[in-house]
Amino acid sequence: MKLDDRQRRLLQRTFLDYQPTADFLDHPLVVSRAEGLYYWDVEGKQYLDGIGGIFVATLGHRHPRLVDALQRQLGLLTFAPPMHGISDVALDFIERIGQVSPGGLTYVKPFSGGSESIEAALKFTRQYFRQTGRPGKTKFISRYLGYHGATFGAMAASGTGRRKSPFEPQLGGFIKVFPPTHYRDRFSSWDECNRFAAQSVADVIVHEDPDTVAGVLVEPIGNTGGIITPTEEYFRLLREICDRYDVLLIFDEVITGYGRTGAMFAAQTFGVTPDLLCGGKGLSSGMVPLGAMLARQDMGMAFDGPGDAGVNFAHGHTFAGHPLACAVGLAVIDEIVTHDLATRAVQLGERLAAGLERLRQYGVVREVRGRGLLRGVELVRDERSLAPFPELGRALKRTALAEGLILRIDPSWFAVAPALVASEAQIDELCDRVDRSLHQALDLVTRQGHTA
Ligand SMILES: Cc1ncc(COP(=O)(O)O)c(C=O)c1O
Repeated sequence: MKLDDRQRRLLQRTFLDYQPTADFLDHPLVVSRAEGLYYWDVEGKQYLDGIGGIFVATLGHRHPRLVDALQRQLGLLTFAPPMHGISDVALDFIERIGQVSPGGLTYVKPFSGGSESIEAALKFTRQYFRQTGRPGKTKFISRYLGYHGATFGAMAASGTGRRKSPFEPQLGGFIKVFPPTHYRDRFSSWDECNRFAAQSVADVIVHEDPDTVAGVLVEPIGNTGGIITPTEEYFRLLREICDRYDVLLIFDEVITGYGRTGAMFAAQTFGVTPDLLCGGKGLSSGMVPLGAMLARQDMGMAFDGPGDAGVNFAHGHTFAGHPLACAVGLAVIDEIVTHDLATRAVQLGERLAAGLERLRQYGVVREVRGRGLLRGVELVRDERSLAPFPELGRALKRTALAEGLILRIDPSWFAVAPALVASEAQIDELCDRVDRSLHQALDLVTRQGHTA
């Protein structure tokens, strides 16, 4: 699409997340309408949303049931006084998400996004240990290539170098380990590689001194590393290690939650229950900002001391538990349960994975990874060298937009995560558009002389 002078001027008064404005001005996208799996830009061009905005539109855009829930709530209550009370709909949301959460995570605080939920989980963990007689347990272990949010604590826990280096020094007490993919070429089997990666977490805890380690924070499937998908055993081992050293296991399910991987939460998909779980993004299908921190009920009870002792979780946000957000979140969960969209994600996910596997014909695919409707494709220059191919990803970003397709591209891998309400035909359309975009991107880089 083309920008007019006014749009160009206004775009120079703001910024797009994690990208240079100049790049964006070269290949702009200004959208004005969306429905289901499609966006339309201001010139009327249609785009297939292969990534739910950014892992957000679980039920597609403007799902009628969510529009109804929002409209109903608009007629009742649009703000509750946080220092005095809570809305009835926030209580309904807390009850509902507790019914579908992995075992026992019924202590819930709704927030306005992923970073807020992560930030709260980090603070909750530290205060929990302080008030249960283990004040020395303060450090967090998380993974390189992981992303947990843009605020200072969530950023410190993230392992994304370039997104962090402008803001050094980072907060102290955040230690990184590598995800299993980092070691994959050193092992003959993926299982063995995962065992090693899990053991590295135990080694770090021991060498840091378990009395100083509070939590292990991981995305069950790591987006920013290219849909890194560990084995179920990896998570079982992490659970055992955390139990052994009295360390809390914290899952960042901002992307993996709400049916996407084949169960309501990836914790259930992988068969492991964390002590805390953070949600955001798809919890409202993008209609309103919503996140949530879920914790073990007994942990919540540690904050339930006598009022005169001043025991409380020393934390809050003005918009946390906003009635409009809770009304929509409630409807999202109901819709996923009523239509068993988690099972649908498994069925459609197999179709999507098969379509992505067909891209191997181009000789630039190392792996197709993921579960359910969260899939990633790693791009390499050729299948022999397995060298990353960032130029191809950068070209793909342009050709996909031209083809009317929105993906997450970074730039040696790309991810797809369409709405759980997609039809089989839409999954096929998505695979076709990805195929055409990749084909054109390869032509582009070949013409530019970038291939090996
Ligand atoms: C895994 C993960 N955790 C946390 C966040 C932060 O969420 P938010 O951008 O809503 O603050 C993100 C955002 O991309 C994410 O992908």
